[in-house]
Amino acid sequence: MEGRDLVRSVKAVGSVGAAQALRTVRAAWRRRRTDSAGLPPRGAERARVPGQVQNAEPGPGGGTLWFSRSRLRIVVAANGAVFWGWDGAEPEPSYALVGCPEPDPRAVLEPDKDGGWRVVAERVTVVVSRNGAVEVRTPGGVTLRRDLPPRWWEPVDGGGARWLQRAEVPADARFFGLGGRASGPRLRDGTYRLWNTDPGRAFVPGDDPLYITMPVQFVVADAGTHLVFHDSTWDGTVTLREGEEGAGSGHDRAGTCELRMDGGPLRCWVVVGTPARVLLAWASLTGAPALPPAWALGHHHARWGFGSEQEVRRIVAGYRERDLPLDAVHLDIDHYDAHQVFTVDRERFPKLPELAEELWRDGVRLVSIIDPAVKSEPGNAVYDGGVAEDAFVRDGSGDVVHGVAWPGEVAYPDFTHARVREWWGGLYEERLAQGFAGFWHDMNEPTSFTAFGEPTLPRSSRHALEGRGGDHREAHNVYALCMARAGFEGVRALTPRQRPFLFSRSGWVGAQRYGGTWSGDVATGWPGLRASMSLVLGLGLCGVPYSGPDVGGFDGSPSPELYLRWFHLGAHLPLFRTHASLRAGRREPWEFGADVLEHARAALVGRRRLAPYFVTLAHLARRTGAPYVRPLWWGAPEDRALRDCEDAFLLGDCLLVAPVLDPGADRRAVQLPRGLWYDTATEQPYRGPGQVLVDAPLSRIPVLARAGSVIPTRSADGGLELEVWAPARGRGGGGMVVPDSGDGWEEAEIERYAVRWEGSRVVVEREGEDGVGEPPHPVRVRGLGEG
Ligand code: GLC
Repeated sequence: MEGRDLVRSVKAVGSVGAAQALRTVRAAWRRRRTDSAGLPPRGAERARVPGQVQNAEPGPGGGTLWFSRSRLRIVVAANGAVFWGWDGAEPEPSYALVGCPEPDPRAVLEPDKDGGWRVVAERVTVVVSRNGAVEVRTPGGVTLRRDLPPRWWEPVDGGGARWLQRAEVPADARFFGLGGRASGPRLRDGTYRLWNTDPGRAFVPGDDPLYITMPVQFVVADAGTHLVFHDSTWDGTVTLREGEEGAGSGHDRAGTCELRMDGGPLRCWVVVGTPARVLLAWASLTGAPALPPAWALGHHHARWGFGSEQEVRRIVAGYRERDLPLDAVHLDIDHYDAHQVFTVDRERFPKLPELAEELWRDGVRLVSIIDPAVKSEPGNAVYDGGVAEDAFVRDGSGDVVHGVAWPGEVAYPDFTHARVREWWGGLYEERLAQGFAGFWHDMNEPTSFTAFGEPTLPRSSRHALEGRGGDHREAHNVYALCMARAGFEGVRALTPRQRPFLFSRSGWVGAQRYGGTWSGDVATGWPGLRASMSLVLGLGLCGVPYSGPDVGGFDGSPSPELYLRWFHLGAHLPLFRTHASLRAGRREPWEFGADVLEHARAALVGRRRLAPYFVTLAHLARRTGAPYVRPLWWGAPEDRALRDCEDAFLLGDCLLVAPVLDPGADRRAVQLPRGLWYDTATEQPYRGPGQVLVDAPLSRIPVLARAGSVIPTRSADGGLELEVWAPARGRGGGGMVVPDSGDGWEEAEIERYAVRWEGSRVVVEREGEDGVGEPPHPVRVRGLGEG
């Protein structure tokens, strides 16, 4: 038993007793047995490379190249994205894509030098060498990435191949992405696994993999930015090694990336351009992010173990009595009857709908946790329903696979089957009847507690995979994605007038279509604080813009200082939620002394003031794929100092947030992008690019506003007010605002504003189709002291 496995079983014992621990041992043995029967060991294998190119056949957007031992199809799509697939791999079927983009009719396959071929398109050139290396170049001819000829290992007795794809990137390139990684945002040299995993304890930077892994790399170099996605859901690893530039006349050493996959098609998408362009094309490929309702952009308070309706009332009253804004309360598994999803413990939560109604009147929504595992016990209605629907995952011999989760022995719905998704989606009716307004998917890696081995289903478990059929090796990474789809579609059908609110612990490429995520069980401590920011940044670059951490950390008790710094960070992330484990210390803002309470109140009030800005960012994310939280290099990927800066972020176009991530600080250095910036607390101007020192007293988080920006805020009377930051002298500015259009599907139009100096006055105008006009909202100009 490894250390971590031991920890896991102790966790099980600590939470639900010795019987549960015993179950984890039994389940682990069972899993082993199932896999040894269902997955015969790989026999002899034969290695293969593509060989030499023999023939070329032009097709729409590119064409097919025939090699002696493989073939390569290349298509440049009209949105600029490049697809290539080996061995006949096509873009679809794919869990990631929302459809296959049209090929670019102007992109043609033509001979290149040395017997190679190329496709020249407006924004990208793809060059294929005669032995199958694929190079992606900018229109100016600079190489962004060079994929060497792939290598396959095929079982001699037949079956799917494992494969390896090595690539080189420029020596100065930096890697980001790969889903949610605690050690990011910049991914340093090392091996990262592609297998969604519950780490089994509160995680710290270095714990890898975590709940959301994605074969998506965001690579930033002087030559340009690109995103590369290897569309295979199988288990794999990515080994990254940053390059090194030769000093003086020395040679550069390229950065390298080595992707090993246990199976699945070898197919790949590359998108090049500015970060904004890359994410725009990425969202058009994998789907626009769901728009959270405005309340979900406020403050959420959760806890595992409120334990009763009275306690929920007490907490909500605590917020109200202390004038602390609160928008949502989350109920964890302790409100279920014996931990069974879609039930209520009627003794401790006898009148949930009334409680929900009461909270609703106070402007507080109730959110319910949803775990996928169903207690396998005849008489349990959800289980009986699942049996009747033949909904549960089975093994190769046809028996339902059992694992262990909070309710004990459980079965797992196979969300890769449309019929099962529909059945599951219908179960949310019970939740809606209880008064829940939002859903928090958990434990969906999927997790099965185990005394040893992997904390998930046997790899040989069978899945429908939309009728194609396959096993858990292929279905594992998309389990949560399919569960999210089930929940989202179910709730949408049940309440068609409202946008569903859903966020999920695990997921895969495309998860943004159904909602967001949160950082999972981050360890309480300063490293956890840093990790929780990395996760949000990394996921945003992979196309999932809505996420946030458990403020204060999941386990233990943060010091008042750590709690407050975390609170300040959380107040500037899309999902702002306090949450903690059953055994952790309290997380209510009043539990840490009068000073913390006062500063937390200011943070909550500040968040509420920024609500219209968050709503605007949510709309822009939906329309453009741009995440709310962006790395500092977003607008200037060529600025190397910004590329290496990991302790601050941009919140939309207007704000730069520089959280305090270390104890004992009262000032911190901030790396500024080009331009004029104002400390929003003092209006003190700073000029970038370069590093400046800003004050960071315990009372606040340093936030800087870009000169010339227009920030929609909520005024004291609840209306919309434009906060405009004076542009630098001789310069202009502007911005976009999308007003809240309610919780339905209607989306308001974008309002565009221009800002300019007129003599000694700053003038703000609304830009419309027929010229400029007065803004329809009050305007407050700040930063005028700069002169
Ligand atoms: C998992 C979740 C956590 C939740 C707990 C109990 O650890 O990540 O957020 O509180 O389960 O449901």
